[in-house]
Amino acid sequence: MACCHHYQFEAGYEDAFRVDGQSLVFGPGCLTEAGAHASSLNLSRVALYTDKGISTSDHVDKVRASLVQAGIDVVIYDDVSIEPTDESFKAAATFAQEGNFDGFISVGGGSVIDTCKATNLYATYPAEFLTYVNAPVGNGQPVPGPLKPHIACPTTAGTGSEATGIAVFDLLSMKAKTGIASLHMKPTLGLVDPLVTHTLPKNIIAATAFDVLSHALESLTARPFSQFAKPDTAKGRPYAQGGNPFSDMIAKEALDIVGKYIVPAVTDADNYEAREKLMWASSLAGIAFGQAGCHLPHGMSYAVSGLVKDFRPEGYPQDTPIVPHGMSVILNAPSVFRLTGPHAPERHLTAYKCLGGTHEAGPSEAGDAIAEQLIGMMKSTGIPNGLEGVGYNASDLDKLTDGAFPQKRLMNLAPCPIERSDLHQLFEGAMSYW
Ligand SMILES: [Fe+2]
Repeated sequence: MACCHHYQFEAGYEDAFRVDGQSLVFGPGCLTEAGAHASSLNLSRVALYTDKGISTSDHVDKVRASLVQAGIDVVIYDDVSIEPTDESFKAAATFAQEGNFDGFISVGGGSVIDTCKATNLYATYPAEFLTYVNAPVGNGQPVPGPLKPHIACPTTAGTGSEATGIAVFDLLSMKAKTGIASLHMKPTLGLVDPLVTHTLPKNIIAATAFDVLSHALESLTARPFSQFAKPDTAKGRPYAQGGNPFSDMIAKEALDIVGKYIVPAVTDADNYEAREKLMWASSLAGIAFGQAGCHLPHGMSYAVSGLVKDFRPEGYPQDTPIVPHGMSVILNAPSVFRLTGPHAPERHLTAYKCLGGTHEAGPSEAGDAIAEQLIGMMKSTGIPNGLEGVGYNASDLDKLTDGAFPQKRLMNLAPCPIERSDLHQLFEGAMSYW
């Protein structure tokens, strides 16, 4: 195939990939455009989803005022959980079903945007909760069709959720992190206003920026689409289809930006340019992993955050222990890329260069080169020293492995086969880095 000279094709394997359209508005102050965009979508009564931490913030005020000015009836729902669960998704959906809304607005981080996506789904196509949840945890039924308009307004530079059709949550009965993924769940429009980054504490900037970095790095190193079996029909093509020429292009650009700006954005609170660049990289990385998918650092992160002991990082609410998502991802990453490097050395070397790596590393050193580059960035931005830095030790290795191994969807996107023993070894390698 002419566009895919880095990909190899074999009979019976996928030879086509999807490029999804993306609607984003990016620029300082664009939250005040919410009303105009909602009007263009013919909305007259909307539910605005947010969480209690920011429901009285300027960001929510700006969006609400803009909608009201456009003559739109706005009802606020601020009961979104920071770590959403099936129960919090259901409560949010019930609110929507009873409210007779013709569209949805989300203002917040990934939890808020994901909750709004799930709400839109269950309010539009009511069903037993597990119907659309990813198999094997849920039934994995496809979303039946288009949802109502959803305008997503991210307030952190991290999840890229405004650019994906994925909603992640904890299924309480199984104590498992899982999700729902469909092109129909992708927000109609993302309003990405980089001004929201100006007031974020540096620890939050660091954790969210490493989430961005890992989305891009995992997309670029994901198992290629051409190594998956060709589906019988186009409908069988999975949402996360593996690395492909389009996701490669976007991921490289995102990595390039994060590589340049992550350290100044964290260490210099007045460096608004660096923070704003990360906001752009966040959306780009969202587009990339929305096309390709993430793999091991994310799959492992759910166990790291789910089994948290007593870690309470500065800049986050101190009432409950938490390993913030981006931190729980990046703590695994150096260990992962040391293992995966030899399986896709060219891609790892490309990523290393995008991240600003300057050593002349050969193919056999690709994984180690990325690991060292990441460790340097972690040290410079105050990220804890591996899993021990957030309270784990060798006695937790089995629990961490058991917690991550069921994330088959993510494990399958790794560039090499992953057995339980590999995961155990990866967690062991992530305990301490310096
Ligand atoms: Fe993430």
